[in-house]
Amino acid sequence: MSLYSSVDIWVEYLIRFSHLVAGIAWIGSSFYFMWLDSAFVPPETPRRNVDGELFMVHGGFYYQVEKKKIYPGELPKVLHWFKWEATLTVMTGYLLLIYLYYLKGASLLINSSNPTTSLTQLEAIATSLGLIISGWLIYDSIWKYIQSKFINILLSAGLLFGFIMINLHFFSSRGAFIQTGAMLGTMMLLNVWVRILPGQKKMVFDASEGRVPDYSFSVKAKTRSVHNTYFTFPVLFIMLSNHYPALYNHVYNWQILIVLLISGAMVRHAMVTKNSKERWTLLPASLGLLALIYITANQPIADRGSSSSDLVTYSQIHPIVQARCLACHGVHPTDDIFTEPPKGLILETEEQMLKVIPQLYQQVVVAKTMPLINKTKITDEERAILASWISQHQVGQ
Ligand code: HEC
Repeated sequence: MSLYSSVDIWVEYLIRFSHLVAGIAWIGSSFYFMWLDSAFVPPETPRRNVDGELFMVHGGFYYQVEKKKIYPGELPKVLHWFKWEATLTVMTGYLLLIYLYYLKGASLLINSSNPTTSLTQLEAIATSLGLIISGWLIYDSIWKYIQSKFINILLSAGLLFGFIMINLHFFSSRGAFIQTGAMLGTMMLLNVWVRILPGQKKMVFDASEGRVPDYSFSVKAKTRSVHNTYFTFPVLFIMLSNHYPALYNHVYNWQILIVLLISGAMVRHAMVTKNSKERWTLLPASLGLLALIYITANQPIADRGSSSSDLVTYSQIHPIVQARCLACHGVHPTDDIFTEPPKGLILETEEQMLKVIPQLYQQVVVAKTMPLINKTKITDEERAILASWISQHQVGQ
């Protein structure tokens, strides 16, 4: 392995590690506060300003926590805030987005299967950032200016689905999944900094100035905090999905994404609700998961069309080549051994494939030596689709 690729792997590894650890801290504290909220009971003998209390044992000591409102003159000297977990998670997430998707020619981000929408590196980065920013602005305005919760939920769902389709249009399927995750993660962080913290700061400031704080700020902050709760599982799913080409490259990839986002939010609802009757959401969430298992079991990564005699198109084989060949035959191979494309053979575009049809025919159809030692685990079905496409062009030559 060359020094460059070794450094490359370690840089990626360290950013990913930091992102993971910060994310665990963020989600861990968010789970913990959700749990605290569900476990508080009113004190046996009522105390002023105390809404609830609970006792815990951990590491050999007892901990007593009170949930209370603060009034003038009661502000403690040291007050712990929870904001760096979220900030570090999103910052390391952006580092990873930049390192993996924006640098290196943005080759992981660009949708090269559709030449008409294929962006340059700069265009891809600008589109990605533009979508992230407009996503926040629209989402924030919906919840700031429109009063009806029902309409807000409808609009937010429409917004999310719209952005998923836009992302899939401009970006590679893997890029589109991560872009959707980056958009949600950004909304979560900005919820913390722009909507939750300023409200809390105002309350603390009021109390320190001897005024009775306006607790309507807590209610507004709580709404955004609840949103973040529902975003948690969908975002985690998206982050993990990037390691499963069979999901993001699937012909039903956007449906898979949407079912998983909804199911994730429903599981989260069952976890945070205090009303056990509302745990019915676990049922549709499980049905969604079962449906996904069924769909992915019965469909190859690429759609083969209605019958096997149909002509196979490039857009059908592109996800297969992406998943099974580009680890070695990409402009920037990700394979651990082949850090340069073997024999200089690059298979990123249709043109590049068409130039080497005889070699492809030999390696994939006749000898089946590619993918090398089947390192990328091509399935028989996928090989058959790829072979049909190659044969179509082999005959035509
Ligand atoms: C794990 C790495 C790896 C993967 C994955 C891989 N290849 Fe290769 N490929 C190689 C290597 C190494 C060679 C050179 C073999 C040699 O020197 O004979 C090669 C050579 C080839 C050649 C012959 C080029 C020539 O000029 O003779 C073709 C065609 C080819 N690969 C196509 C594919 C296709 C199509 C896929 C995906 C279905 C694929 N490869 C996946 C490593 C890989």
